[in-house]
Amino acid sequence: MNNKIAPVPVLLVLTGLFLSTPALAQTSEASSDKADANQAHSARAYSERGADTCLKCHDEDSKFPVYSIFKTKHAVRADKRTPFAKLQCETCHGPIGEHGKMVLHKGEKRAAIINFGLKSAVPVTQQNAICQDCHGGGRINWKGSNHEAVDVACASCHKIHAPRDPVLVKYEQPEVCYQCHKQQRADFYKPSVHPVRFGVMTCSQCHNVHGAVTASLLARPTLNQTCYGCHPEKRGPFLWEHAPVAENCALCHFPHGSIQPALLIKRPPWLCQQCHSQAGHPSIALTPAGLPSGTPSGLLLSGACTNCHSQVHGSNHPSGVKLMR
Ligand code: HEC
Ligand code: HEC
Ligand code: HEC
Ligand code: HEC
Ligand code: HEC
Ligand code: HEC
Ligand code: HEC
Ligand code: HEC
Ligand code: HEC
Ligand code: HEC
Repeated sequence: MNNKIAPVPVLLVLTGLFLSTPALAQTSEASSDKADANQAHSARAYSERGADTCLKCHDEDSKFPVYSIFKTKHAVRADKRTPFAKLQCETCHGPIGEHGKMVLHKGEKRAAIINFGLKSAVPVTQQNAICQDCHGGGRINWKGSNHEAVDVACASCHKIHAPRDPVLVKYEQPEVCYQCHKQQRADFYKPSVHPVRFGVMTCSQCHNVHGAVTASLLARPTLNQTCYGCHPEKRGPFLWEHAPVAENCALCHFPHGSIQPALLIKRPPWLCQQCHSQAGHPSIALTPAGLPSGTPSGLLLSGACTNCHSQVHGSNHPSGVKLMR
């Protein structure tokens, strides 16, 4: 094999070798992406024996054992779309070049090879481009997303060599996010929470972390639609709607967690009195000073306004106009 040969032809030739069915070779667009991604390594050649070349050194005793990757979907050779049906390890790690040199001279450093994650010397956009060669479309709207904008690597969330990628496991996913989102960890340990810490829910049920049309990367087009997915009874339609409910659940609830019951941002009556005047009927503050008699009304204690206005999300009762039934 000629080591000086340009990367694109090498890629195509070898893809042909491994697949022995040229129809499955990558599209020319994908190949040219790869050519860009590998530009820095353009003078290098792919190995002739694929993974076997790497496994000579990267066995279970090495500094970086890698066998676990054979238990992942990427290693399913029968699936023609996978890296292992193509250039194997080098589909992701790029051509081996001098990295696989068996004997190093005294003091000679082993030539680098593409690595992933934060410790890698390869720029994040270039790392991600390798993954996007295959994962460019579908549900992954990476371009322009919050995470792309701050250069988060695919490999910061995904563990490609792990037989079970933690970010895809319900009860392990939050820890992956908490590495960077410390405030959200604190929120999810408050007394009233969505049951994420019990492994019942994941962040990704509400967030589409690869990119979304909404602020906060929500899974659905609006905040309320995200909530209706699991709380459909709050969608209505109601005969007597409560305006803020239809507008935005977050006017009253912290979706992650709160020290108030029911994820509320404040307790009634204060919650309600952000918008409703204290003047008039029982809509008065909870303190004795707020009452003409100077003694607090029992009806304002505990459930406060919701003792009477129990249908805060809307009512379908013919006389539910004041949200009381
Ligand atoms: C001749 C032995 C040898 C072969 C063959 C070999 N490697 Fe390595 N590789 C090493 C050693 C040794 C290290 C550790 C280097 C160090 O710590 O400086 C390493 C490190 C790595 C790293 C981590 C690099 C980093 O920046 O931390 C990756 C990724 C890697 N190898 C991938 C591969 C792949 C993929 C192949 C096959 C295409 C391969 N290696 C073939 C010996 C080898
Ligand atoms: C689908 C892309 C992909 C394939 C295929 C792949 N790797 Fe990796 N490799 C990665 C990513 C991403 C990382 C960063 C750590 C992680 O995600 O687990 C990595 C990390 C490594 C490391 C360094 C581990 C460390 O702790 O820094 C070595 C060595 C390595 N791979 C070797 C191999 C070998 C050998 C093969 C083939 C048997 C292979 N890789 C196949 C994507 C891949
Ligand atoms: C050569 C094409 C190719 C490359 C390059 C590639 N993948 Fe994949 N990946 C696949 C295929 C094919 C599947 C299996 C899809 C399926 O089963 O539906 C897959 C599956 C996955 C899955 C789902 C695993 C699971 O258990 O469900 C994740 C996550 C993933 N890839 C991330 C990555 C990341 C991150 C990179 C870059 C480090 C990468 N892939 C590089 C082709 C590729
Ligand atoms: C912020 C963390 C994070 C980053 C960064 C990230 N992912 Fe993911 N990825 C996830 C989560 C969480 C899921 C599970 C989604 C679900 O359950 O709906 C997932 C699922 C996947 C899947 C399998 C399911 C699917 O939607 O097809 C693939 C493939 C994948 N990611 C590829 C990538 C690639 C490629 C990148 C980089 C461009 C990337 N991911 C970056 C968190 C991340
Ligand atoms: C029940 C749905 C839901 C779950 C589960 C959820 N989020 Fe959120 N998250 C939201 C909503 C809704 C917003 C937007 C809040 C707003 O705009 O007022 C948000 C906002 C965010 C923000 C932006 C800053 C902030 O706090 O407002 C981050 C970061 C975030 N979520 C991370 C996470 C992480 C990490 C997890 C998992 C540990 C998670 N979320 C789980 C619904 C959820
Ligand atoms: C490597 C660090 C890192 C990891 C891991 C990570 N994120 Fe992020 N994420 C960021 C950064 C940085 C931002 C942009 C700054 C910000 O808004 O906090 C961001 C932004 C977000 C936003 C948008 C916040 C907003 O204000 O609009 C959400 C939602 C989010 N991340 C959720 C998640 C979820 C869910 C996970 C786990 C599946 C996760 N992130 C994993 C670093 C990370
Ligand atoms: C993926 C499903 C899911 C989504 C999406 C979802 N929730 Fe929930 N919600 C739950 C579960 C599960 C519970 C816990 C029920 C229990 O503990 O009995 C819950 C409980 C609640 C509670 C009551 C908490 C308590 O302590 O009584 C409130 C309030 C709530 N959710 C509001 C929201 C809001 C607002 C949104 C949208 C930002 C939302 N939910 C999105 C599943 C979801
Ligand atoms: C005007 C403030 C307000 C708005 C807006 C609001 N809620 Fe509530 N929500 C409350 C109050 C107050 C409670 C506690 C009820 C109680 O103590 O009986 C509550 C309780 C809940 C509960 C738990 C008890 C139950 O009724 O199931 C869920 C779930 C819930 N809200 C979901 C939502 C969703 C989803 C939205 C948006 C569509 C929303 N809320 C909008 C005030 C509000
Ligand atoms: C974010 C502002 C906001 C909050 C918080 C709020 N409301 Fe409202 N509420 C409104 C608006 C706007 C209307 C519609 C007023 C109208 O149509 O004239 C309304 C209507 C009502 C009505 C029906 C009034 C009528 O004339 O038919 C009742 C009763 C009510 N709210 C009770 C409550 C209670 C109880 C709470 C606390 C749990 C609360 N509201 C919290 C904004 C709010
Ligand atoms: C003792 C039961 C009771 C309590 C407690 C109560 N309300 Fe009412 N509220 C009523 C009744 C009855 C009406 C209907 C008055 C009418 O039709 O003239 C009403 C009407 C309203 C209206 C409609 C405006 C109006 O004057 O018709 C609003 C808004 C309202 N209440 C908000 C609140 C808020 C906010 C609280 C808590 C601070 C609260 N209420 C506590 C019984 C109560």
